[in-house]
Amino acid sequence: PRLVFSGIQPTGIPHLGNYFGALVNWVKLQSTAAPADKLFFSIVGWHALTLPQDPKLLSESRTTMVALILASGIDSQRSIIFHQDQVQNHTELAWILSCMTPIGKLKRMTTWKTRLAVSRNANDESEVDDSLLNAGLFTYPILQAADILAYRATHVPVGEDQQQHLELTRDLAETFNRTYPNPTPLFQLPELILTPSKRVLSLRDPSSKMSKSAIDPNSRILLTDSYETIVKRIRSAVTDSIAGITFDPVERPGTSNLLTILSACTGEAPAALAERYAGSNHGTLKKDVVEAVEETLRKPRTEFARLCEDKTFLAQVARDGAEKAQEHSDRTLKQVRKRVGLS
Ligand code: TYM
Repeated sequence: PRLVFSGIQPTGIPHLGNYFGALVNWVKLQSTAAPADKLFFSIVGWHALTLPQDPKLLSESRTTMVALILASGIDSQRSIIFHQDQVQNHTELAWILSCMTPIGKLKRMTTWKTRLAVSRNANDESEVDDSLLNAGLFTYPILQAADILAYRATHVPVGEDQQQHLELTRDLAETFNRTYPNPTPLFQLPELILTPSKRVLSLRDPSSKMSKSAIDPNSRILLTDSYETIVKRIRSAVTDSIAGITFDPVERPGTSNLLTILSACTGEAPAALAERYAGSNHGTLKKDVVEAVEETLRKPRTEFARLCEDKTFLAQVARDGAEKAQEHSDRTLKQVRKRVGLS
């Protein structure tokens, strides 16, 4: 049987990138799962702490995220939704794994290199100084590996920006298996599952991905945005001045991003869409993207509003989830402690 594991940070309302890159994929996996498969979806509060957070907002986002995951279509009877910070096994395993992780590997992580570059506003990697950045930002991929390995996950659905972290996870699983091989290797190597919309781009700057932290709110569409906001943001999306529509992510990233979004909403392949819109202009395409996004978000938006009224239910879902997650990860940690000689 499969064990699916994924995580999302409780940092505000997810955008279309999180939704199409991750949440929709989670729901798809849930609906195609065999009865014996297990699915774990974690709200990763410890990861969120790598950047400064307002405690009150973080606490709210943490609850809101339970509602958003449910509103996206995850069924708490079928899948396990839980807060990472309620299962101490993650940090314990992260520590053990960090004692097996070469620093050089962490230095090669793109997410770390990007942080370094941003903190110094420099492009030349050799010149940046890491002495003021927090250590959590640096070791964050190890915690992610621990999240996955504590459940001995077999499949991890994520967007493209998390691909390198999964490679590190596989590396660490292999290292652990090699170091402590008896009686049989403990970890199966988890597989990456990417969606077709693995990288949704910023609506204002199609050279970068859509992100929660970009300063311009027009660069993203949030799951809870109103129709009016969707209209405004798609209308102001940066495209190009080439006539007609083609799907060409390299030469026409903005136009292609709109096709990617439309494709994620309708299920029709971007190339097929491009053919249909070949003779149309950007205005026509944008109008249809607006309607498709609205159609896609209407249900989650309504469902989210309804769930937010029922805080008792949300707390119950998180409590049940933590209990099951604890139970499941206890089995792995028991093995890990024994193998390293700490039991
Ligand atoms: P986070 O919270 O940044 O993002 C959650 C998910 O959304 C995907 N994503 C995107 N996909 C397509 N286009 C985009 N523009 C875009 N932006 C974000 C991400 O790839 C991710 O799948 N470190 C992780 C959370 C994590 C995790 C884990 C994931 C912690 N432990 C274990 C899987 C397994 C993160 O910060 O995701």
